Amino acid sequence: MSPHAGIYKNPRWYDIAFGFRNIKKECDFLVACIKKFSARKLKSVVEMAAGPASHSIEFGHRGLTAFALDKSTEMLAYARQKAKKEKSRVRFLKKDMRHFRLPQKVDLAISMMDSLTYLLTDVEILAHFKTVAANLKPKGLFVLELVHPRDFFTEKTSFGPVWRVRRDATRVTVNWGGFSDRQVDPITEVVRMKAELTVEENGRKYRLRSVAPERMLTLSELKLLVRLSGVFKIATLLGDLNFKQKLDNSRRSSQMVAVLQKI
Ligand SMILES: C[S@@+](CC[C@H](N)C(=O)[O-])C[C@H]1O[C@@H](n2cnc3c(N)ncnc32)[C@H](O)[C@@H]1O
Repeated sequence: MSPHAGIYKNPRWYDIAFGFRNIKKECDFLVACIKKFSARKLKSVVEMAAGPASHSIEFGHRGLTAFALDKSTEMLAYARQKAKKEKSRVRFLKKDMRHFRLPQKVDLAISMMDSLTYLLTDVEILAHFKTVAANLKPKGLFVLELVHPRDFFTEKTSFGPVWRVRRDATRVTVNWGGFSDRQVDPITEVVRMKAELTVEENGRKYRLRSVAPERMLTLSELKLLVRLSGVFKIATLLGDLNFKQKLDNSRRSSQMVAVLQKI
């Protein structure tokens, strides 16, 4: 079964649950990354494991060539409808992020909201890095938004575990699994992450529960895998989607953002 199938098969509720992000601001940061490291204007992008494809939809609005790929039929159908409703041109592809070929090379590849975590082994991550690099133009960037490594080692996690979001008449309470809910396999570094959405809509209450095996990726492993891939170098590491926030162990450094550049 796919990871978090119970939740990803209900994309509208997933979209509400993760709708707290400032997508426009995040896209501004991504545009600035290309300006800073590739010294050109961002014209084309691929969003992998795109889910509701919010970033691709925003880039479509800005007139960029935007590809959004995901392996879930339900997510793609939802994202396609959302793009149509919002009159944004996005090209959707049902593909596995480990192996894909776009119709054209792009300036930027993005993997948002810790989507790399679904690649459980070093071999899968390396295959992904090589595939992404093959779809990028020279000096192209791969921006990865990852969970802060502290979340694997301490109870003071940066992400969640519980938050509430309301959109129109729908209320979603998310429990993305606290530290003590996680079952870690210390040999494989794969964590069984439990998540639960409680949805209140039209006077009814729904509860979606799911489990996903996710890879714990530390900073040193990330650095080693990037070097081993032979296709990327680290342009910068940040603690948020913000150049001013360095990656450290302060509370403001709430995630691990890696900007990789094709070599
Ligand atoms: C966390 S969700 C979506 C995250 C999305 N990037 C965002 O910012 O909201 C993860 C998505 O990854 C997709 N996914 C998981 N493994 C995948 C794979 N190997 N290839 C492509 N998509 C995958 C799931 O179907 C799901 O839609």
